Amino acid sequence: MGVEPTRRMMQVLAGQALDPPPVWLMRQAGRYLPEYRATRETAGGFLDLCYTPKLAAEVTLQPIRRYAFDAAILFSDILVVPDALGQHVRFVEGEGPRLDALASADDIARLDPVATAKKFSIVCETVARLRSDLPAETTLIGFCGAPWTVATYMIGGRGSPDQAAARLFAYRQPEAFARLMDLLVDVSVDYLSQQISAGADCVQIFDSWAGSLPDDEFARWVVAPTKRMVAALESRHQGVPVIGFPRGAGANAARYVRETGVTAIGCDTAEPLGAMRNLAQMRRKASGAIAAQGNLDPLLLVSGGEALDRRVDEILEAMDGVPFIFNLGHGIVPQTPPENVSRLVNRVRGDGA
Ligand code: CP3
Repeated sequence: MGVEPTRRMMQVLAGQALDPPPVWLMRQAGRYLPEYRATRETAGGFLDLCYTPKLAAEVTLQPIRRYAFDAAILFSDILVVPDALGQHVRFVEGEGPRLDALASADDIARLDPVATAKKFSIVCETVARLRSDLPAETTLIGFCGAPWTVATYMIGGRGSPDQAAARLFAYRQPEAFARLMDLLVDVSVDYLSQQISAGADCVQIFDSWAGSLPDDEFARWVVAPTKRMVAALESRHQGVPVIGFPRGAGANAARYVRETGVTAIGCDTAEPLGAMRNLAQMRRKASGAIAAQGNLDPLLLVSGGEALDRRVDEILEAMDGVPFIFNLGHGIVPQTPPENVSRLVNRVRGDGA
């Protein structure tokens, strides 16, 4: 075996504070890059891109070539899981995802965990390619959606501002909803476990709609399923870091960290910097330090200029000396000028500032 490469993001996930902090951006592969749009056109549909390892690996690598981010995130989508379970998923140009909404316990019973094997193994082929094509110092992040967030799309059939369909379903048919959540926990653990075995260094669980729930439901549908996933992954892949991203958790963020056992917490744009610093100073029962990741407003990356520089500096100053990974508070939006991303990365790294 060769010498272990130094992956800076992995050092932070192990509890070190690094100056400058490692940096990567959610949705760093995507439509703001002309080379992504070109590859996307050759693939046909969006899901075809996700299920073609050569092309999915290519679009993952594009932002690494441009910006030398400290981490690459597997190119795929959280809706690969419902698709692999046999629920029909399509992406409508300019509108986003559409699924044949689950409406009953029977619809849930028809989902087929055994059927996921084929599509999961295609995604893992992308992971394996990436691990061999990436620079040795680049951390490779695997991911999935959290059960609650994935369920909101499966039940709503599309994105919605308030996740009303899923919340109503959970209130009206609690047993069927619990079965769906159990199934998503099991399938998502298998999926992440396969990504880790294929070469992912760490994984992120995206709970984009964690913020829409009252606190009892937050405990039941966000904290508990995530806790089960973290424990199952820890027993299969000891020490592999898990980053949780409970977007909108607000005052529940500390509880999320304490109770789920995640290694790191992704903070959204609204998290006050002082609170993000406090999260990065929490301790885990098992193994010490927590890291925080976040939380620049993606729209500041669109507008750029000195306001961007100022906020980057404020975040760096607030997180100085604690385990921290620089990121956005949500994904890059398509109208982002690619040169603003260079400006951000240079600023974080103290190059040409
Ligand atoms: O670069 C990366 O971050 C990796 C790839 C990635 C995508 N989606 C690619 C994608 C990741 C990690 C995701 C996660 C994801 N997908 C989330 C959680 C994070 C978040 O944003 O809250 C959610 C909720 C989804 C579901 C999803 N996928 C929606 C709502 C949409 C439509 C909105 C949009 O931006 O078009 C997608 C499509 C999607 N996923 C695109 C990309 C690059 C754009 C599709 C295209 O190229 O046409």
